[in-house]
Amino acid sequence: TFVVTDNCILCKYTDCVAVCPVDAFYEGPNFLVINPDDCIDCDLCPVECPVDAIFQEDAVPEDQKEFIELNAELSKNWPRITEVKPALAQAEKWDGVTDKIQYLAT
Ligand code: SF4
Ligand code: F3S
Repeated sequence: TFVVTDNCILCKYTDCVAVCPVDAFYEGPNFLVINPDDCIDCDLCPVECPVDAIFQEDAVPEDQKEFIELNAELSKNWPRITEVKPALAQAEKWDGVTDKIQYLAT
């Protein structure tokens, strides 16, 4: 499965949603997650993310491993998103800021 990680938080560009053949993305207030039960490992979404926030599960950086479980858990509660929408207002400013998990809204 693929996993959305820290750099999506407060950016949420949603370009990833456009290419997913199985609509595996679920939306929170300032972050998207992938439901591991939906994802078919097609590998189409990582390159679409302008902030490089999506990784194959085995390639998630060491300091981001908690996002594997977070994607699985949050995707149970959040609504599915199937259409691209505008990024969050401050998206450019937040790209590359580390440890945005502290701002994660659930
Ligand atoms: Fe969807 Fe493919 Fe990305 Fe999985 S890897 S979330 S199936 S686009
Ligand atoms: Fe987030 Fe990148 Fe998708 S910022 S919403 S994972 S395109």
